[in-house]
Amino acid sequence: MKDSKGSRLHPRVTSFRSRRGALTAAQQESWDRQWPKIGAEVSDDRLDATSWFGRDAPLILEIGSGTGTATAAMAKAEPHVNLMAVEVYRPGLAQLLQQIERDEIPNIRVLRGDAMDVLENMIEPESLTGVRVFFPDPWPKARHHKRRLLQGPTFALIASRLKAGGVLHVATDHAEYAEAIAEAGNAEPCLTSLDWESPMTHERPVTKFEDKAHQVGSAITELIWGKIRS
Ligand SMILES: C[S@@+](CC[C@H](N)C(=O)[O-])C[C@H]1O[C@@H](n2cnc3c(N)ncnc32)[C@H](O)[C@@H]1O
Repeated sequence: MKDSKGSRLHPRVTSFRSRRGALTAAQQESWDRQWPKIGAEVSDDRLDATSWFGRDAPLILEIGSGTGTATAAMAKAEPHVNLMAVEVYRPGLAQLLQQIERDEIPNIRVLRGDAMDVLENMIEPESLTGVRVFFPDPWPKARHHKRRLLQGPTFALIASRLKAGGVLHVATDHAEYAEAIAEAGNAEPCLTSLDWESPMTHERPVTKFEDKAHQVGSAITELIWGKIRS
């Protein structure tokens, strides 16, 4: 959202790297078939998820879906959920579109662009059942910490978009970022430790990305909060 001078109302982080990558011919063909049906560019317009999915169902947003391995597996495990994946990296989205087409997964929609814009402009307050952020870029150098996605203002924004009782699920393989995430999440007054039954699965498949982390001996930290219910 921008003010009358075109400035943003919230301070912004640019949490992603610019990565180029061409699609393979097969990816492009799948993109051309699938994108008009289940893809959208990030915009300033409020999203009508019920009409986009063609049904009213619990809505989960996955931020930074990469190649979509977790997205596809979790959507299959939860057919009753509407799952939106937002990613800036087009070849990653193309891989997800191929998998959706191959496995005929009906409950995923994909958004291309900055997740901060999605949260701020496209998602209605108090409308999400869940938000997933798996392996956000750690930006390990101190001078880059300001580019980390998960810091105080992002937690406040995510919390404002979650329904009461909704869940934020984060996983990271970066120990120091994990500590910073825990601190910022615990400081958000609308989030609390989950002491009720989660409305969504926390079972993640091990992706190639996580596999590499295991190979170099990095521990995975899983962080889960619930949006306060009253
Ligand atoms: C380290 S990768 C992890 C990908 C995937 N979640 C996984 O576990 O394999 C982080 C991903 O987040 C994406 N990303 C980072 N900031 C983003 C933002 N603000 N909006 C959308 N995607 C973002 C990057 O493009 C990248 O693909």
